[in-house]
Amino acid sequence: MSGKYVLGVSSHFHDAAAVLVQGDRIIAAAQEERFTRQKADWRFPENAIAYCLSRLPAGAHPDAVAYYEDPALKAERIVQNARHQMPGGARLWPQMVKTLGALSQELPAQLTAITGHADDVHFVAHHRSHAASAFYPSPFASAAVLVVDGVGEYSTTTLWSGTAEGLEPIGEIRFPHSLGLLYSAFTQYCGFRVNSGEYKLMGLAPFGAPIYVDRIKEMITLRADGSFALDMSYFDFARGPSSISPLFEGVMGKPPLAPDAPVTPFYMNIAASVQAVLEEAMIALARHALATTGHSNLCLAGGVALNCVANGRLRAELPELSGLWIQPAAGDAGGALGAALEVARDGAARTVPVGGDAMDHALLGPSYDAETIRLALEDAGLVYDRVDDPATYAQQV
Ligand SMILES: [Fe+2]
Repeated sequence: MSGKYVLGVSSHFHDAAAVLVQGDRIIAAAQEERFTRQKADWRFPENAIAYCLSRLPAGAHPDAVAYYEDPALKAERIVQNARHQMPGGARLWPQMVKTLGALSQELPAQLTAITGHADDVHFVAHHRSHAASAFYPSPFASAAVLVVDGVGEYSTTTLWSGTAEGLEPIGEIRFPHSLGLLYSAFTQYCGFRVNSGEYKLMGLAPFGAPIYVDRIKEMITLRADGSFALDMSYFDFARGPSSISPLFEGVMGKPPLAPDAPVTPFYMNIAASVQAVLEEAMIALARHALATTGHSNLCLAGGVALNCVANGRLRAELPELSGLWIQPAAGDAGGALGAALEVARDGAARTVPVGGDAMDHALLGPSYDAETIRLALEDAGLVYDRVDDPATYAQQV
């Protein structure tokens, strides 16, 4: 094995994670929530980092640290946004000051402490990290790479051309116009938690009928080339803490569903409608991505790429698509992987993985044997009655 050992890190928004790679080989990966049992834990992933470093060979040290976004650009966007939202945006200031303190002081110190040298710390732009996590492990020599999420530093949607030379940026859509934030707004409206309940909204959609698509299309303009624009009079996420404005409630005709309230058919229909709009947008984006880059393969990452129903429609409805590869950790945890791969590559030509993709599986975190699982369950007052295949749980990566 050769190549630099690079530790990738994501943190300070949600889905904090650490990843260890050597060159293009993925050695270990873990999300902080698995250690702290705090779902989508955003804090600096000390436990995940310790685990990844424990997988280094004896005497080896990380050569570099790769962080999954540019904290300076992110800070700039946060300040600009607060400024543009004045005077109402003044309520963002206390949180903004806290975030800026963390990004400018705490985070650089935490990253530097990993190797002891500030020069070893590299910042990779948020969407480039996502794109790298999708393209570099993929089985394709070349591909269009589409990243769709809530927001990175400024980008919410980016298109890349992936070749042996790496990732070339082709186009972007910027904050506040965001499919991820649109979906999160409806997640909140239907009574689920933003940044973790989106999968519940997707799961709710098939219980309803998409009868409110026209109302939602008053809020978002979808263009034939895959681009889109939100009408920000309906959304408050730029001002926070709510994602939706009073106008949003007025158009939808009912107040947001309270968390844990019984879900009525109205909200099922809302879920079906926003899911239909998202799928329409993703199909247009993917079609445009293939036509613009001239590639027939497509790689996806970003939190919206976790919408497996939309992904299924791409596979079924785009005859021009020959290969589709989606980063399993498409959310921000996967950004730690992409950042590490990008830094480890260091501008060298990419080699296509032999015999498939470079992620045979996603079992990259700590493993436990069946006896340890049994004892832990018993401690928690649970019964260990069935494990389909204990060897799977005990597998060491
Ligand atoms: Fe992201």
